[in-house]
Amino acid sequence: MLKNFPPIKTEAWRKLEEHYKNVQPQHLRDLFAQDPQRFEKLTFRLNDTLYDLSKNRITQETVHLLTQLAEEMDVPGAIESLFGGEKINATENRAVLHTALRNFTDEQLQVDGENALQEVRQVQEQMRSFCNRLHSGEWTGYTGKRIQNVVNIGIGGSDLGPKMIVEALKKYQKPGIEVYFISNVDGTDAAEVLRRLDPETTLFIIASKTFTTKETITNAETARGWFLNKAVDREHIKKHFVALSTNIEAVTKFGIAEENAFRFWDWVGGRFSLWSAIGLSVACALGYDKFEELLRGAESMDKHFRQAPIQENIPVLMALLSIWYTNFFGCQTHAILPYDQYLRLLPEYLQQLLMESNGKSTDRNGNRVDYQTQPVVWGAAGTNSQHSFFQLIHQGTILIPCDFIAPAQSHNPIGNHHPLLLSNYFAQTEALLKGKNAEEVRQELEQKGMASEELEQLLPHKLFEGNKPTTSIMMKKLTPFELGSLVAMYEHKTFVQGVIWNIFSFDQWGVELGKQLAGTIEGELLQGKSSEHDSSTKGLMAYYTENQ
Ligand code: F6P
Repeated sequence: MLKNFPPIKTEAWRKLEEHYKNVQPQHLRDLFAQDPQRFEKLTFRLNDTLYDLSKNRITQETVHLLTQLAEEMDVPGAIESLFGGEKINATENRAVLHTALRNFTDEQLQVDGENALQEVRQVQEQMRSFCNRLHSGEWTGYTGKRIQNVVNIGIGGSDLGPKMIVEALKKYQKPGIEVYFISNVDGTDAAEVLRRLDPETTLFIIASKTFTTKETITNAETARGWFLNKAVDREHIKKHFVALSTNIEAVTKFGIAEENAFRFWDWVGGRFSLWSAIGLSVACALGYDKFEELLRGAESMDKHFRQAPIQENIPVLMALLSIWYTNFFGCQTHAILPYDQYLRLLPEYLQQLLMESNGKSTDRNGNRVDYQTQPVVWGAAGTNSQHSFFQLIHQGTILIPCDFIAPAQSHNPIGNHHPLLLSNYFAQTEALLKGKNAEEVRQELEQKGMASEELEQLLPHKLFEGNKPTTSIMMKKLTPFELGSLVAMYEHKTFVQGVIWNIFSFDQWGVELGKQLAGTIEGELLQGKSSEHDSSTKGLMAYYTENQ
């Protein structure tokens, strides 16, 4: 079981507070100047991906103290509890076993009396056979035509993960099938996707762990109505609707044939579910073999996470860095900056993973925490982001640690695009590290022949403090395997942060209240009446009603 202890009471935390006073005034320029081996010492590799932590505001002593913190919070024990299937999702009384979905060993993993790995394999076979039938054209629509469009209907973890992966691995897409995603309950989402499609050649995947999520069920009903409008006979639903869920009873009640249901289990959290049947849209887009490569990449990160010593354990170190900036530097945000257009949805995916997991203020004892937990995660692809918010990262008043992610090889090596993209990738982290001091700015402006009065006025605006922390993640190429490994790294980082913050990372009670109130208000809007609300909510509802 997870240790239940406030991190701020550890010996390491106290030492880190002292150590911070020593590190905070130091400039990254000096840290690099003092140690020519800094890159080698603070860079870690797994398979074809390199994690360069050297541009972070840390010393070897910081790493030592942070790993001491991990030891004191029993991160190694927590890792074993995770992989061993202990019910560490205590508020929902569930094990947390997304790692079982990509475990290709012959291990036995007993969960509630069943060998979980055997059940996983059965569903994987079902997915493989379904994809093969789809891609070979054996699975046809109700008029005998081949399926050309697959629409995933889901939200949150039943949408963000698969959508991000399908986009990221577009280059591996199988010809003949287009995959679409509908998630928002805003009818515009469904309308804009459906107007491009033909019911005869479209297959819907209804992805919902609970099969009760209002948005998904509403969109699924709309899709069913759209389909039956042309197909008429409900018997045809069988060939055009499949479901991914833990709730098979609700699936069949909806009208989807039981043989078209791909199940998973309550020990797979929604935001950790892309490796389960929830990944069916990925397998439809890429073919099952590529989906398996993704799983194998994740498995390689799982093995590393489970076996590597803490001092060399990439997800643990990434989590510890986040703790360092959040709890000692007081950083409130963290930017994810992929320099790869295919990875442009990664920040959005990581927002749910990290913020739904660790956006908590109650510790494992039920007490309010008196330290900061999850910072805001945000970001966008480079170089576009350089022309929007990078100004603030370089010269704003808040410190924003950033992850810069790029592949060494492009899938689209057109002209000089890739060297140009990567020169920006390298330049940005270097600029954030070094900055530009008064002497350098003065020299530059003098060289341009600027008059001294004008120069002195402009100079303060052209200063860059530098000393902005970045982590560079470079992979050889964005393959299914390397992507699987990267995503699993972020999953484990999320878990370790939660272990150290002494919070439960696998529930999401914070989303409940809004859902409850929306249920009440929906009823009122449909009946045209309003009950007890604050004056603002009442006023807004009245404005809405008046303007229908
Ligand atoms: O937003 C809350 C949440 O429960 C997420 O955790 C989950 O990924 C999403 O809703 C969708 O849930 P389901 O897959 O059950 O429809």
